[in-house]
Amino acid sequence: MDFKSSPVIVKAVEIAKKLDLRIFLVGGPLRDIFLKKNVLDFDLAVSGKVKEFGEKLAQELKGKFIYHPQFLTGKIVYDDQYVDIAQLRDEIYERPGALPKVKPISDIETDLKRRDFTINAFAYDLLANKIIDPFGGIKDLKEKKIRILHEKSFFDDPTRIFRAIRFAERFRFQIEKQTLILLKKAIKESCLKTISYQRIFHELNLILKEKNFKEMLYQLSRLGVLKKIFNKSLSLKEISQLAKLKKAKLAEELIFAYLLFLLNFKEKSFLKKETIKIIEDLNAFKKIKRKLLKAQRPSRIYLLLSPFSLNSLNIITALAPSLKKKIKNYQKSKDQKPFINGNQLKELIKKGMIKNLREKDFYKILLYLKLKKIDGKLKNKEDELKAIIKWTQEH
Ligand code: CTP
Repeated sequence: MDFKSSPVIVKAVEIAKKLDLRIFLVGGPLRDIFLKKNVLDFDLAVSGKVKEFGEKLAQELKGKFIYHPQFLTGKIVYDDQYVDIAQLRDEIYERPGALPKVKPISDIETDLKRRDFTINAFAYDLLANKIIDPFGGIKDLKEKKIRILHEKSFFDDPTRIFRAIRFAERFRFQIEKQTLILLKKAIKESCLKTISYQRIFHELNLILKEKNFKEMLYQLSRLGVLKKIFNKSLSLKEISQLAKLKKAKLAEELIFAYLLFLLNFKEKSFLKKETIKIIEDLNAFKKIKRKLLKAQRPSRIYLLLSPFSLNSLNIITALAPSLKKKIKNYQKSKDQKPFINGNQLKELIKKGMIKNLREKDFYKILLYLKLKKIDGKLKNKEDELKAIIKWTQEH
């Protein structure tokens, strides 16, 4: 196979031999090689000395090794590529949904047994040059099936519910019959409640990155996954709104924030400030949308739109092309400032040119000037002074 002659693999094998380690190609990249996809980043498992192995390989590749001792894993980053490295391990789930405890082991079969689906649970032994496939992963790949390895799989790690849907829709595979029964059972028995929002958000973000994300979100809705977690599903219309945001190439965080808005997510303590602001803005926008559609005067549009953040306006623009022009014009004019500022107002009062204006009304008068300026009604300082005098007479 081609991958064996790749410089990364050749170097990795040399180092493993020197360190007297067994070494395997595993996980997604091996699966993808069998699916005849172009694989650039590898996933390697070694029988010990992960840190030493990773550092040596990183040195050879002129990259950097980032090591996570608590998980016995690491990542080499070099050029625009990476290599994942892990110590062969068993994983013990102390309670469903929690992150597993990791126990180093030296046999590959036990390492494969802890994995999610058969198509991700075979290995290539890079020293013996042979495939190790105890669960029929290659057969399932050929038959396009997503199959778990044991009955408790979804209960141990309910993020696999997301993963099953993601892989099924990415590769257009079927979730095998018994696996689907157990997946539905896990959803029904509220397994999803045992995983943290952090892990759920991670899975949702992975889905949003996928080409077939619409189908994935549809399945998450259809199978009741979203309803269990957020008490809300997504309609086809809502999924197509997310697709519009992706098409407009909005930043991932914005698309994710929009997803949380659609899911009516309210637990602020789990969110970043910017995300909270977007969700609040989108809720507020529902109330002003009709007014905005009717509004024509630039100052009126300014007053309606000024509470919204730039991020929120970008989302709104991508979703509502009919508002694009208004929002663009607003963005162009919103930073206009009157010629007269607060200090100048003080001066003009001192000189007796403005009467009956209290300092606490400065904010009001400056906003009044700004709005008139946005409407194109004030061309210079004299116009502004006249407007101020008129205002003081009327108030
Ligand atoms: N894995 C698992 N259970 C999980 C997550 C991961 O068993 N909840 C195992 C699988 O064997 C998987 C490997 O760890 O192949 C690497 O995980 P990850 O990088 O998330 O999966 P990939 O299969 O590489 O997925 P992708 O193609 O999306 O990168």
